[in-house]
Amino acid sequence: MLFNTQYPLVQAPMAGVQTSALCIAVSNAGGLGSLPCAMLTTSQLRTELQAIAEGTTQKGNAKPYNVNFFAHTPPEIDATRNQKWKNALAPYYAELGLNIDEFPSGQGRTPFNDESAELLEEFKPPYVSFHFGLPKPELLKRVKAMGAQIISSATTVEEALWLQANGCDFIIAQGLEAGGHRGHFLNHDLNLQMGTFALLPQIVKAVNVPVIAAGGISNAKGVAAAMALGASAVQVGTAYLLATECSTSAIHRKALQSEAARHTALTNLFSGRPARGIVNRVMRELGALSEFPPEFPLATPGIAPLRAKAESMGSGDFSPLWAGQNASDCVPASARDITDMLTPGFQH
Ligand SMILES: Cc1cc2nc3c(=O)[nH]c(=O)nc-3n(C[C@H](O)[C@H](O)[C@H](O)COP(=O)(O)O)c2cc1C
Repeated sequence: MLFNTQYPLVQAPMAGVQTSALCIAVSNAGGLGSLPCAMLTTSQLRTELQAIAEGTTQKGNAKPYNVNFFAHTPPEIDATRNQKWKNALAPYYAELGLNIDEFPSGQGRTPFNDESAELLEEFKPPYVSFHFGLPKPELLKRVKAMGAQIISSATTVEEALWLQANGCDFIIAQGLEAGGHRGHFLNHDLNLQMGTFALLPQIVKAVNVPVIAAGGISNAKGVAAAMALGASAVQVGTAYLLATECSTSAIHRKALQSEAARHTALTNLFSGRPARGIVNRVMRELGALSEFPPEFPLATPGIAPLRAKAESMGSGDFSPLWAGQNASDCVPASARDITDMLTPGFQH
């Protein structure tokens, strides 16, 4: 089986809503569990890697797992764009009693770097996946030298060919249905983005490496359909959001189980980059894809205080409620039960 797992199933890394607990549970249930590292400090990353190494090893037998990083190039902070963002959010700061003079700015997310590579060298994860392309060649070489196999997302055939040419061992075909951030990195024109079942066969035809289908796959029929279209495995995120082992917030869980889950949209309001989430108040009022936020990931710090304040009052009006287009298919269950539900055709 691909990835030396029982099932051709990768649990999508989901920054902000999961820790090592979900990764361990899915790896032990026969899928490839993933740890999202984009929001972890080096010391948190060390703790999580230690937990995974211990949690996925039974009687000396280690289950495979995947660690995931962002591979974007941090942009320069642009004072004019930051001011525009501040102006757009100022009425909400006033409404929630926050001081606009304390409007934070900064990078918000750190990409894979030498420090992360150094730590990975200690733990030698079998799989390392990247979002938004790949890190610089010297860094990628370092990861490959550890013996890790490389995975990254393509949202177009051009990106898939680029990833293959630049050393990727497995390519995720990320369709437009997918929850969370779009992984595009060669061209930011959203008109080029395709649905999973249009994108997947085109990528399968174009590349020689195994292709993993992602986006809107939330049940066994979806898995079977992706495999029929040439996928070697699937990557599933949203369907795990209600897993017992997922740290999805109560507000996010409530939205996923409500009528609101039927309406997701791509929005750049939470980070500066298009990502799919359940439509909420700030998306409706500012427009889901807006000219106000600065470049990714510079939009994150400014909206964070609104999110924290609103959430403390039980509201998800300013929260990124990341979810794919099949969010209404989510069921609360253990990660093992969700994994089994997705893979009945592969059970022995
Ligand atoms: C809550 C959430 C957070 C996500 N965070 C990440 C991430 O940190 N890294 C990453 O590579 N992909 C991330 N993704 C995207 C997934 O890798 C994947 O493309 C997506 O979950 C597949 O579509 P689905 O959600 O419909 O299953 C995230 C998705 C969700 C739903």
